[in-house]
Amino acid sequence: MCGIVAYVGSRQAHEIIIKGLKRLEYRGYDSAGIALLNGGLNVYKKKGKVSELETHLKNKNLNSHIGIGHTRWATHGEPNDCNAHPHYSASGKLAIIHNGIIENYSALKQDLLRKGHTFLSDTDTEVFIHFIEDIKENENCSLEEAVRLALTKVIGAYAIVIMSLEDPDLLVAARKGSPLVVGVGRGEYFLASDATPIVEYTNEVIYLNDQEIVVIRDGKLSITNTANLPLTPYIQTVDLELEAIEKGGYEHFMIKEIFEQPRSIKDCMRGRLDSQTGRLILGGLREYVNKLVNADRILIVACGTSWHAGLVAEYFFEEFCRIPVEVEYASEFRYRNPVIREGDVVIAISQSGETADTLAAIELAKSKGAIIFGVCNVVGSSIARATHAGAYTHAGPEIGVASTKAFTAQLTVLNMIALLVAQKKGTITEQKLHEMLVEMETIPEKVERALQLNDQIQDIAATFKDAHNFIYLGRGYNFPVALEGALKLKEISYIHAEGYPAAEMKHGPIALIDEEMPVVFIATRDSSYEKVVSNIQEVKARKGRVISVVTEGDQLIPKMSEFVIEVPAVHEALMPMVSVIPLQLLSYHIAVMRGCNVDQPRNLAKSVTVE
Ligand code: F6R
Repeated sequence: MCGIVAYVGSRQAHEIIIKGLKRLEYRGYDSAGIALLNGGLNVYKKKGKVSELETHLKNKNLNSHIGIGHTRWATHGEPNDCNAHPHYSASGKLAIIHNGIIENYSALKQDLLRKGHTFLSDTDTEVFIHFIEDIKENENCSLEEAVRLALTKVIGAYAIVIMSLEDPDLLVAARKGSPLVVGVGRGEYFLASDATPIVEYTNEVIYLNDQEIVVIRDGKLSITNTANLPLTPYIQTVDLELEAIEKGGYEHFMIKEIFEQPRSIKDCMRGRLDSQTGRLILGGLREYVNKLVNADRILIVACGTSWHAGLVAEYFFEEFCRIPVEVEYASEFRYRNPVIREGDVVIAISQSGETADTLAAIELAKSKGAIIFGVCNVVGSSIARATHAGAYTHAGPEIGVASTKAFTAQLTVLNMIALLVAQKKGTITEQKLHEMLVEMETIPEKVERALQLNDQIQDIAATFKDAHNFIYLGRGYNFPVALEGALKLKEISYIHAEGYPAAEMKHGPIALIDEEMPVVFIATRDSSYEKVVSNIQEVKARKGRVISVVTEGDQLIPKMSEFVIEVPAVHEALMPMVSVIPLQLLSYHIAVMRGCNVDQPRNLAKSVTVE
């Protein structure tokens, strides 16, 4: 995690860096800091958010045309001023920002301590910059060569940028396992963890690859790798509107992103799905699509909300493609010895495209010969590049830490992939395919109608905002929605919440039910409707407080529920895209009413680039 920004050019570096850090705050917000060259190499840093750093910078001389900045999600060392980045080298002549983890930092630190180094922080990053300077002095080499030599010796993940008091027009940066983008302006350069701090100034970017080192010296950029081979920079044009990364009048990014869903789902289908002609075009699957058609088994790897999207996809693929599917937590998959056979195909799902566990699961599956498809939101991200083929979700930047529009876009893409495979495989009739495509095209409008329930849901939130626990129950396609509803609530409101398959309740969680327990049933009209009705009665009998999400016009469940939320009818396989909407809104309003920071919940970060 952590966000990094750096600048060199003719503008005021601190203005670009502070603005950029605010855009990257979703990546971590335990502390923030900046280093500038103004009469010396000056580091300013503060525990807390970038706004606290800004206050700390008031009345300071910030005049500098080169600088580096960092917003931290703590890994080594508690969040405090000392552990905040940037960190100095032993002489104080070098400063570094770092996103990642140096796993062998302890051994390096012992060596440096023996040589008489002292450290001001508990971080691996401070050890890293001491180590680089130590090499520079011992080898009597340039900073870039010292960085290269150091990178051949450290184990772990990093995106780093280093500046030097002795070289006022030099930035040295490198990446392995953590993202780093270079923005190429006219006589100026920007470096950042993603393109959001850059697009305001230039849309020309270079996505660095692992083991690459970029040196910007006297207005010129060069790239080499850790083996010291010179590389030709590949400049791409990034297509990202500034408006997409700002709040646009909403109070929080999360609510903006919830309300963007009709559009993001439509954008995701645009040019790819046409019910009139029965065409499904997913260019990114390329020639690999037949691997899916002929797959004996599909393995889905993902984390968090993306894992929930994978669970919905399991039901969908099995129903329409008749291919067995297993959905795995990437963090578990990567650390066992999974059986991957010829004929297995892996689908990796990730909004950020940077989740370390998902990336490692991909590498493991690849090493065993599997073909990997990626479903990512962030264009050019590490996962998108590590996979053989895939389809972007095109949901636009998701900045609220809690994932909302990415989930519905992931489902849209996964459904399209499954329907395409079913069509090619012949496991769906033309008639049924047509029906499903028509239904898919109605989803944006149905999501729009579900969003109109916002005021009603706000009232329900007011009733339950002080609850200590929640249970979410659903069956079939709505079971993963129950998991997702519970995750949304706990991560942003800090209310303990459990999601369960409704029928499993009687095997344990039913013991929790009393007159204080809110139980959210996702009970839309589908093949398990009658069974869910029985589960609601079981909760009622124990005086649980029932909140039901039902299909419009339901006559039965409202009689058993304290609160009813009616969503438009849709084919049950597509219902998760609609039934999740009230749950996103419920957790949002409860979190706001409890005074929580919904966009930046405690202890979380948007992009989990550590394992
Ligand atoms: C929940 C949430 C996380 C992410 C998870 C995976 O709201 O945001 O659970 O879903 O960290 O992230 P990606 O999809 O970026 O791999």
